[in-house]
Amino acid sequence: MDVVPAPDVGRIWARLDALAAICEPGRPGWTRLALSPWDRKARGLVADWMIEAGLSVRTDAIGNVIGERRGAAPGIGWLVTGSHTDTVDGGGRFDGTAGVVAGLEAAHLLGALPVRHGVRVVVFVGEEPNRFGVSCLGSRAVTGRLEPLHLARAGPDGRSLAEALAESGADPERIPDCRWGAGEVAAFVELHVEQGVELERSADPIGVVTAITAVHRFAATFVGRPDHSGTTPMERRHDALAAAAEAIGAVERSARGGGGVATVGQIATEPGALNVIPASARIAGELRSVDPVWLANRRGALERAVRAAGTRRGVAATVQWLSEEAAVTTDPGVRSAIAAAAERLGLAARPLTSGAGHDAAHLAQVAPAGMVFVPSLGGRSHCPEEWTDPQALAEGVQVLTLALGQLDRTDPPPRPGAAPP
Ligand code: HGY
Ligand code: MN
Ligand code: MN
Repeated sequence: MDVVPAPDVGRIWARLDALAAICEPGRPGWTRLALSPWDRKARGLVADWMIEAGLSVRTDAIGNVIGERRGAAPGIGWLVTGSHTDTVDGGGRFDGTAGVVAGLEAAHLLGALPVRHGVRVVVFVGEEPNRFGVSCLGSRAVTGRLEPLHLARAGPDGRSLAEALAESGADPERIPDCRWGAGEVAAFVELHVEQGVELERSADPIGVVTAITAVHRFAATFVGRPDHSGTTPMERRHDALAAAAEAIGAVERSARGGGGVATVGQIATEPGALNVIPASARIAGELRSVDPVWLANRRGALERAVRAAGTRRGVAATVQWLSEEAAVTTDPGVRSAIAAAAERLGLAARPLTSGAGHDAAHLAQVAPAGMVFVPSLGGRSHCPEEWTDPQALAEGVQVLTLALGQLDRTDPPPRPGAAPP
């Protein structure tokens, strides 16, 4: 690509602001939960922008919004970019949305250039974990990894994911039709805010993601015995919540020292009265690392800690592993296209792993995939303080656009087993 694309920073920022204005009233920060009316409205707005960018737009059976422009050489697969518009509860304005707006801007810029491959921009449905415990709904669907057992999963109110999808306007029966064909994607590149502190610390404006973390999610249940809180001596108690509290501390300590992270994000107890010794408790959380050995060790330590906390109190304690997403390595060809783009622009680019999960982890199962990171202020994310500077985002868009342009000229090697496009 001879010309260096000049993103329209004003348009990028105006679109981020317009998406930020669509969120659930009364919730902290920016809340646009997966399958919510607010997320649906946000995806509809992006569809309008796709049309403005001259893309043909469709919505698939799960609700992914797909904008595309055919390339000069048909049949060689699509260059795909995009991300998600849904947020965590009380989240920020950049997680996911930055990648959607950046992908759209790249499509604008590539529209003015002779591109061999088709260019496809996608808003993936439901990237964040939801009440059904299944994240990345849209990218699982296009890669054939949203299984019937996921759709049958019941949420806290007993309704299934399939029912919730239908209520959100999706067609669960036709989700198999969402799957993209083998070889349909020549390469996938997602821009995302780093959500960590490495780029800020190193003052590098661009991150080249080398791997995306594994995420192992668990629940632990503690069943003790309710008793009077005033008349039951300490040594005669079967306190389920005290056992859970000990286990939480052990999980957190097991991850200190680096190599991965451990979080307990949920706790519930019954009956929840101040004068009744807790009869039962449930905690849920996750282990994350790119190192499978670290993960295996911490899984064992977690199970032992839960059992020991129960045994000490005569409380039945069990661990259930809810989901296990393996770590994913990004594609070397995509990584070098991103690094070359940054170099061309005179931007320092830093290889780094992602502690966050992404749609790219699913696309990497079916196509050469990679990610461009831009710095997050203070490394904060999943909170209202999430922030990325407009200039930093514009630089990321330039890198994304040049990287896609380079991938357009260098057909990534066909993936084993992929039919010739
Ligand atoms: O949980 C994650 O890492 C991502 O933000 N969904
Ligand atoms: Mn997130
Ligand atoms: Mn995200």
